[in-house]
Amino acid sequence: MAQCSRRKTPRHVAIIMDGNGRWAQMRGHRRLVGHHAGAKRVKEILRTCPNLGIDYLTIFAFSTENWKRTQVEVAGLMTLFKRYIRYETQSLHDEGVRVRFIGDRVRLEPALVDLMDNLELLTAGNSGTYLTIALDYGGRDEVARAARRLAQDVARGQLDPRVVSDETLPKYLDTYFLPDPDLVIRTSGEARISNFLLWQSAYAEYEFIDTLWPDFTPAEFATVLNRFDNRKRRFGAVPV
Ligand code: IPE
Ligand code: IPE
Ligand code: MG
Repeated sequence: MAQCSRRKTPRHVAIIMDGNGRWAQMRGHRRLVGHHAGAKRVKEILRTCPNLGIDYLTIFAFSTENWKRTQVEVAGLMTLFKRYIRYETQSLHDEGVRVRFIGDRVRLEPALVDLMDNLELLTAGNSGTYLTIALDYGGRDEVARAARRLAQDVARGQLDPRVVSDETLPKYLDTYFLPDPDLVIRTSGEARISNFLLWQSAYAEYEFIDTLWPDFTPAEFATVLNRFDNRKRRFGAVPV
């Protein structure tokens, strides 16, 4: 039976890190400067998670639609991802963070995929914050890929289509290892979800805040979480 959550701190927070381009342009810089400034914020927010009682942090780094950007911006972002992972791998491991990537890796360059694989493998046994990075991720693409794999299992006779339910499909999603997000935060004032965690966010709380991602501080993060504490989650039930 559905229950009202008594636990106040969100266990899983997901963030749409938006506003890097505008942050740079407002300062007369190229958009990539904003992406670099945004990347620096990730570690600060991540480090506050243990104190705030957050076990899972999921961040949206690059969407399936972001390939539509200029070749310069896409190439710059891919270089930034490689550099970031290379630079941060050891310290993430030392801090006990466990890292996973979600999204489709086929369009990413092999050198980047190698770094992602290596980071996942190295940190697999850690028990600190579970950091999930969505890279070439789109909710619709994820559900379509899940449906494909599910159909393959049916075709092979490994799955009976009569037992497929809303508990079966999540096992095929990229996020099979994650609980659903309790809270989704989007920075930069846009009030849309842009194809992020479509299935998983069915009952997530949302916070759309005006701050641009490179300006988002741990203090503001804590304020947003305080607001979450005052929300009443009903999950369709009537509170008793
Ligand atoms: C988010 O910032 C980062 C990515 C999508 C990679 P944007 O690049 O979307 O910044 P704005 O929205 O144009 O300001
Ligand atoms: C969503 O932001 C994707 C990421 C933050 C990685 P976008 O800036 O791409 O989304 P739209 O285009 O404003 O919807
Ligand atoms: Mg944007």
